[in-house]
Amino acid sequence: MTLYGVGLGPGEAGLVTVRGKAILETADVVYSPGRLSRSVALTHVDESKIGDLDFPMTKDEEKLRSAWKEAAAEIAPNARDGDVAFVTLGDPNVYSTFGHLRRTIDAFHPDVELEIVPGVSAVTAFATAMGVEIEAGAGLSLREAANGASPTGPDRLILFKVTDAPATHEGLVEAGYEVSYGRRLFMEQGEMLVTDDPSELEERDYYTLAYAEKADLEVEQATAAFRTDTGSADTSGDAELATSEESVTDGGERDPQRNATGSESGSRSAPSEEIDGATEDGLLDLERAEGCEHGDCEGYW
Ligand SMILES: C[S@@+](CC[C@H](N)C(=O)[O-])C[C@H]1O[C@@H](n2cnc3c(N)ncnc32)[C@H](O)[C@@H]1O
Repeated sequence: MTLYGVGLGPGEAGLVTVRGKAILETADVVYSPGRLSRSVALTHVDESKIGDLDFPMTKDEEKLRSAWKEAAAEIAPNARDGDVAFVTLGDPNVYSTFGHLRRTIDAFHPDVELEIVPGVSAVTAFATAMGVEIEAGAGLSLREAANGASPTGPDRLILFKVTDAPATHEGLVEAGYEVSYGRRLFMEQGEMLVTDDPSELEERDYYTLAYAEKADLEVEQATAAFRTDTGSADTSGDAELATSEESVTDGGERDPQRNATGSESGSRSAPSEEIDGATEDGLLDLERAEGCEHGDCEGYW
């Protein structure tokens, strides 16, 4: 039988893949490493099938290794006797806790069959939520910007763990980037926010990313010439292009209102609901204050 690493997508139950949902529905046990992944999984599986694992909020590698060994020892026998799933937000192979589990299983329980079901990663979901188009050949780099860091280099950057947006912003703007931010994109819990104003993000929230693009970046695309002065396309087929025959540079132009299908872009409030006896709002406050306690960032905070 098999251990499935199932990517749940960014946090809306409707963005779990069809295959991921089928695995969750048939698995004997579904392990979740955190409160958010658990709540997404619960849309597709009965609570009685959920197996919680305990991960310490520490950077102490010894403690982390021992937590992963314990988790693998709990999961392995169930994966020999039946099908089990380990869920992660986003994609299991993108910057995820699942990598730790896979390596620990490989080391200590190499007979366990393992299969990965990809999920919609924040690495791609951000583009839709923030109205960014990544064209073919674009150099895009994924970096970490915790505690106000401002990594620079390529023309385009996705920055994870933006915990001090104002400080990160300052460094990036100084280095010639235009920056926009996405918080809790396509997440059922909390408020989705897309903004280019870092002062709106002063409150720390682990689920915040940034997209930075060199301000002088010019992208020439053939279809940009279809644009008219009014912004609406001319559909007559043979009409003169309203602007000119010159191609228009449209790299970096963003219109989040036309994106984020399924949930309106900009600010969105999820209903407050009761989870494990505490209100969702209360737990979210706690997570923010503590830097993502039980928020699926174990080992990666
Ligand atoms: C450890 S990485 C997890 C990535 C995940 N495995 C994926 O594929 O999306 C966590 C970071 O991803 C970003 N992130 C993940 N989900 C997000 C979301 N729904 N909205 C905004 N940022 C998100 C945040 O920057 C967060 O600090």
